[in-house]
Amino acid sequence: MGVTAGLRLVTQDDEGIDVAFRADVLSGLAQRQKAIPARWFYDRRGSELFEEITVLPEYYPTRTETALLRDHGAEFREDAGPGLVVVEFGSGSSVKTPLLLDAIDAAAYIPIDISGDFLRQSCAELSGKFPDLPIVPVEGDFMHSLKLPELAPGQARLGFFPGSTIGNMVPATAVDLLRSMRVTLGANAQLLIGFDRVKDTRRLIAAYDDAQGVTAQFNLNLLERINRELDADVPVEAFRHLVRWNPEWSRIEMHIEALRDVAFTVSGRRFALLEGETIHTENSHKYTPDQARLMLQASGWTPRRLWTDTGADFMLMLAEATEERSAP
Ligand code: TRP
Repeated sequence: MGVTAGLRLVTQDDEGIDVAFRADVLSGLAQRQKAIPARWFYDRRGSELFEEITVLPEYYPTRTETALLRDHGAEFREDAGPGLVVVEFGSGSSVKTPLLLDAIDAAAYIPIDISGDFLRQSCAELSGKFPDLPIVPVEGDFMHSLKLPELAPGQARLGFFPGSTIGNMVPATAVDLLRSMRVTLGANAQLLIGFDRVKDTRRLIAAYDDAQGVTAQFNLNLLERINRELDADVPVEAFRHLVRWNPEWSRIEMHIEALRDVAFTVSGRRFALLEGETIHTENSHKYTPDQARLMLQASGWTPRRLWTDTGADFMLMLAEATEERSAP
């Protein structure tokens, strides 16, 4: 039992610069609508700030989803079945993951994450709580299908994708991911996935623009990280956190807006923004139950059951891999 070791994947150049981070920042800042992929939020400081976001009064998703996991454990077990291998896409939360593992009496746990450090940390915590549970971390990019370790032949897997992380992808990318999850999880797979629901726009905006300014710090930390890691001189005080609702795409957008005309250098390259111009840093798509079902169906998953809170803020869906059949 216990935790099995994995591999490391970060690529650095001679000066210790993360080349993928630099490539994404340089190409993102060269676009007409500047944009930097959200995965770069999560350095040490960013991860700490994100932890703070999850307990903010305005940020309802984490506590709502946690309550759903806590309140409906017996139903997950009834519907999904006991003795499944739980495969989590992402390192896992110290609160949500144990609730699920406990509720369904999991046979084993396989977390997949691109960051070996996060994996090792969360596996170490979990193995303390579940000394008899086999835990096999897989370091890799879950956006592509992966070969998982065979633990017990023929044992079905339950994918777990909480946090409405699916909402941070545009629907086309979300569909690609859901399809590759189906490949990764194999025959008779099931999926338990969290979606944040469409609701009053003011509440949505407040959740991403809290009164204490923690989400603003989280967003602006990306500029600080660029300065720290990419030999850059971005004047962070010349920018502000901007949140908007995009109705066409049914999503919250986070941007970093220039408060005046600015120019700076990143790794020897010059960039400029005009006053009011933005760098797009995150999307958080919000779904109705029907939209979520359609997206699952379009990705080879048959929705089976939905759990939501009394305020209809958040939903968990259980789906099973659609049987491959020929027409109609
Ligand atoms: N997936 C969650 C959401 O969209 C968490 C999250 C991702 C988040 N990036 C964020 C929360 C940026 C606040 C800010 O709500």
